[in-house]
Amino acid sequence: VPVDPFDLVVFGATGDLARRKLIPALYHRLHDGQMPEGARIIAAARRDLDDEGYRDIASRALDEFVEAAALDEKTRDRFLRSIGYVQVDVESDDGWDALAKALPPADGRPRVFYLSVAPRHFGIIAEKVHRAGLSDSDSRIVIEKPLGHDLASAQELNDCFSGHFEERQIYRIDHYLGKETVQNLMALRFANALFEPLWNARHVDHVQITVAEKVGVEGRGAYYDEMGAMRDMAQNHLLQLLCLIAMEPPARLEPDEVRDEKLKVLRALAPLTDPESVVRGQYARTNGSPSYTEDVGHPGSRTESFVALKAEVANWRWSGVPFYLRTGKRLRTRVSEIAVVFKEAPHSIFPPASGRAGNNVLAIRLQPDEGITLGMTIKEPGPGGMRLTSAELDMTFADTLGATKLRMPDAYERLVMDVVRGDQTLFMRGDEVEAAWAWIDPIIALWDERGDRPISYDQGSSGPEDALMLMHRDGRRWREIAV
Ligand code: BG6
Repeated sequence: VPVDPFDLVVFGATGDLARRKLIPALYHRLHDGQMPEGARIIAAARRDLDDEGYRDIASRALDEFVEAAALDEKTRDRFLRSIGYVQVDVESDDGWDALAKALPPADGRPRVFYLSVAPRHFGIIAEKVHRAGLSDSDSRIVIEKPLGHDLASAQELNDCFSGHFEERQIYRIDHYLGKETVQNLMALRFANALFEPLWNARHVDHVQITVAEKVGVEGRGAYYDEMGAMRDMAQNHLLQLLCLIAMEPPARLEPDEVRDEKLKVLRALAPLTDPESVVRGQYARTNGSPSYTEDVGHPGSRTESFVALKAEVANWRWSGVPFYLRTGKRLRTRVSEIAVVFKEAPHSIFPPASGRAGNNVLAIRLQPDEGITLGMTIKEPGPGGMRLTSAELDMTFADTLGATKLRMPDAYERLVMDVVRGDQTLFMRGDEVEAAWAWIDPIIALWDERGDRPISYDQGSSGPEDALMLMHRDGRRWREIAV
């Protein structure tokens, strides 16, 4: 869907996020014909550059982060010409007049201020944009996590933004919500009549959500050591996925209808008071590869690089259904998956020699090899009598939809265009962020109180043994997805 011309101001335009994600995403939207003639990107940062200097940086970002097949010189040229640069020091008053001059008159064009900067600059930029008269009631401001460090700091951040912008103007990115398969989750649940009648405690045994990473802290040691897996991944991405699985059907696909439902789920999360329901891990030095504490340069660090937990959505639909969540770094492989495991058939008509019918499992694979599979029990082919075996209905998108040819767009492509269109459905509302922290804070407080260290796990493993125990104790196990 084409969008109207817009002006996008990117603060922190020379930084990693802008080069790695934002510039490539905007290029792709232009390449696919979605960026209108007349759209302007105004890159703002502290470095002393002119338009050409920044265009060089952007052009190199394209070479580095856009696949060669999508790069063509005509589009590159058009894209680079839509970018201007303004030197702005967000800490002082330098550059703000120049920024005002660089912005064409709003004239009904949406203005987007994308804060691709460290969170300590969020407040001051919001205030200065407002004070310099750069924003109007149709302007939008975009921020990304960390959205606070705990409930109190998240509230402070929300208060600071709400002093200058209305909630409908604030776009809080959780890039997991921009992933194709995550959006597909909503299509799967609400555009099919098949699953919804089964989507409750009567039929679902439990839910597993895994986001496993192979990478370590990747040069972000200082940030990560402050956060850990719980704050970096569980508070946002994992809980957002849980919300999409657990929420009631919204009446319409409208931003607040969806976000109201997600908020109800977050508020229904039972306080996690049993220390046995949470496992924290930290990767050890393995085969010469540095340990977590070596990677972050903090010998005594108690920060976790892995967390697994058992959550409960204490409401009518989900009462008694455990949601097992786990995420970690330096694990065996990169794989993200949500699995809804259904209860066993209530009665078996087959003789014991047939083998057991397994649980049906609906698995939504977020990455890699995006797709949906449905685990079934079938008769083993052949004349040897009734032998039961497991098989999967497999809808790997690349095969089913020819998506290799279609290219899976990156989450940021969708999200940036949603901001321009003014659609907040895939963005977190302030109260959601606070509700997530309100659930996370007591868990972290309990760790601090107990003062125990995370359990060591080997790199390339599937995390600490205790994470397996978390499910074994309940007579269940994690799906074998090579984590
Ligand atoms: C980010 C986290 O939000 O998500 C990183 O800060 C993590 O630590 C990343 O590596 C994972 O995102 P993706 O899209 O690669 O699964």
